[in-house]
Amino acid sequence: MIPTLEWLPEGINFLDQTKLPLEETYVLATDYKQVANVIRDMIVRGAPAIGVSAAMGVAIGIDRSAATNLQDLTAEVASISKTLAETRPTAVNLFWGIDEICTLYNQLAASNTPIPEIKAAVVAKSRRMYDEDIAACKQMGAHGASLLPKQGTVLTHCNAGALATCGYGTALGVIRAAIEAGHTIDVFADETRPFLQGARLTAWELLKDNIPTTVLCDNMSAHLMKQGRIQAVIVGADRIAANGDTANKIGTYAVSILAKEHGIPFYVAAPWSTIDIATAHGDLIPIEQRAAREVTHSNGKQMTPDGAAIENPAFDVTPAKYITAIITERGVLYPSFAESIQRMDAATPELATA
Ligand code: MRU
Repeated sequence: MIPTLEWLPEGINFLDQTKLPLEETYVLATDYKQVANVIRDMIVRGAPAIGVSAAMGVAIGIDRSAATNLQDLTAEVASISKTLAETRPTAVNLFWGIDEICTLYNQLAASNTPIPEIKAAVVAKSRRMYDEDIAACKQMGAHGASLLPKQGTVLTHCNAGALATCGYGTALGVIRAAIEAGHTIDVFADETRPFLQGARLTAWELLKDNIPTTVLCDNMSAHLMKQGRIQAVIVGADRIAANGDTANKIGTYAVSILAKEHGIPFYVAAPWSTIDIATAHGDLIPIEQRAAREVTHSNGKQMTPDGAAIENPAFDVTPAKYITAIITERGVLYPSFAESIQRMDAATPELATA
């Protein structure tokens, strides 16, 4: 399995995704500030992996705290959470991950639990969240595999694979599960400018699993759809609003319109922690703007003339009307998503946080 991140006695070890596919190197974060930097710099990325990293970040902050009383530790937890929450705004999993650990901390602090016991409990919970993320990906695979063609080519955008989760992947997990179930699937991976998650990461991890993968520039899929060479699209998500509008990597919205135009099903695969019931619709989702340099430079080489204005929104929002189904670990949601999300949310009791 691809070790995206791992809790070790000396810290949290992250596979450095900025270096792939040429170098397989690791960055060890020994305190929460380093975890925040790892998330901000996209050494770890992908909504579910960010969520678990943030949870582990709060846990390592608490675990390494020198506070000797609960009052001081509680103040520290607030500052740790703030630092981690300010790293990336769009993937709601980040805030979910922080919240899961803070909720447990607050429960234990409220009952005056000794600090060493609190430390052990938050570390254990963050490590459990890692295992639960992999289990959720496998469940998404089980629920979604039959939606993919028995034989055909599936387009994906960005990287929603093992590298974007604790293992197996969401969108790529569904592809993996379909192949394990006997489907013959080839993958088209959009390169995903400017960070190249598709070209660098999706192609890398699928080829490691011997899944036939062809990299496309981001402007090629319309042509291939018109030729009948794409049978389904499947992507991940960074935040799904209560009405099903879905924020995902910049370029996803365009792909969804192309799929609709060509009568191709467009699937989203995401864990329940990506669904943000508190956000009514997609226009309310904060979109991260990243540094101009990601666009102006490629591999350290300047690609644009000095003085060119640059836009670099990292995500866009696909309106619910373009989405055929949303695959979660709880089951598959169909339109109207406002209703199916609410129904499934009400039907599944919250998991205990401790
Ligand atoms: O900027 P990134 O690389 O963190 O963006 C990742 C994506 O947009 C993924 O598609 C999304 O997080 C789902 S990952 C299972």
